[in-house]
Amino acid sequence: MKFTTYIKASVVASFLVSGAAIAGPEAEVLHWWTSGGEAKSVAVLQQEFADNGGTWTDMPVAGGGGDAAMTALRARVLSGNAPTAVQLKGPAIQEWYEEGVLADISAVAEAQNWAGLLPASIAGHMMCEGTWCAAPVNVHRIDWIWANASVLEANGITMPTTWDEFNAAADKLAAAGITPLAHGGQAWQDATVFEAVALGIGGADFFRKAFVELDEATLTSDTMVAVFDQMRKMRGYVDDNFSGRDWNLATAMVMNGEAGFQIMGDWAKGEFLAAGKVPGEDFLCQSTPGDGFLYNVDSFAMFAVDGDDKQAGQALLAELIMGQNFQKVFNLNKGSIPARIDVSLDEFDICAHISSADMAASNEGGSLLPSYAHGMALRGAQSGAITDVVTAHFNSDMSSADAVAQLAAAVKNSM
Ligand code: GAL
Repeated sequence: MKFTTYIKASVVASFLVSGAAIAGPEAEVLHWWTSGGEAKSVAVLQQEFADNGGTWTDMPVAGGGGDAAMTALRARVLSGNAPTAVQLKGPAIQEWYEEGVLADISAVAEAQNWAGLLPASIAGHMMCEGTWCAAPVNVHRIDWIWANASVLEANGITMPTTWDEFNAAADKLAAAGITPLAHGGQAWQDATVFEAVALGIGGADFFRKAFVELDEATLTSDTMVAVFDQMRKMRGYVDDNFSGRDWNLATAMVMNGEAGFQIMGDWAKGEFLAAGKVPGEDFLCQSTPGDGFLYNVDSFAMFAVDGDDKQAGQALLAELIMGQNFQKVFNLNKGSIPARIDVSLDEFDICAHISSADMAASNEGGSLLPSYAHGMALRGAQSGAITDVVTAHFNSDMSSADAVAQLAAAVKNSM
């Protein structure tokens, strides 16, 4: 029997026994998907939920990267009124589990054989002490450069494959009066660029030691100094109005030719696609210089709530999220690739194919790494400590030497 059928049957039965009117599965869903491409993507889940008899209450909290959403979540949980389903990812899932507020979705996961459908690295993020506590929707890649194809062509520039080439291309664009790097001065966007630069300059082992293991010698190394040197150059490539700009507005600058490049996860592709732009024609995608793959898996965790209708809503949502068709359609819109390994990529574009092939190769070669900037590598206190320094450096004339010293001190204090 299909799980949906089981859920529906059990919900209907319980309402009949109690003599109440039949309500059906309900979910209040907290997420931060409010840009054009993001909203189109979450609408796919909303529609499937409604098609299966569910009532969806939307709780969008605007703010790329989800910082505002996480603040809203904490307030709701503290007031004893947690939303039923929450966009949550990485070690934050286990942090909330440790607070005893997550629901166990193992029944759905086992009925659908999630263990057989997910790569082990992704499954690990969805588990809390042997139980399933989150459902993954995708794999986003962070280390991407996006470019306006005609701006590059008009200026005789090809996609850079080293940071020196990137700097040369950026200088050329600046000389032509074009903003080289479309960027929004928000801490999480600074961190996004920083981790791509760090992977490119330092390589996979450096990245792992610095941002997964928090190794002090690596945090204060000459390589880290070189990473901050490149960040200082990046600061010179953004326009004067970068402060506070939302990431999708930075993507729009690349779309309309105001800027040449953006370094951003592939939700930026969702934005290009939602605007009708075609990869390879209007915009170009390439991994940032260097080897490796920084992954960012979006997922939903269910919070422990009372009520058969809400619990049925949680089970239905978990089941739909891991559905084969949902994983295809959602990710075609979102810019990411499916988390499930058995979804055909036939309908996906060149960028998604590159992502999938590079993810497999990086997994083989030991350079598949969790994004620190998007909460996949570290607990909140540690990643926040790093990002504070990255942002302080980007927005001041702090030297690279001072930045690495502050980095090591901030990490130490956060432990
Ligand atoms: C990331 C999230 C993506 C995307 C992005 C910008 O943290 O994983 O799905 O929404 O923020 O909002």
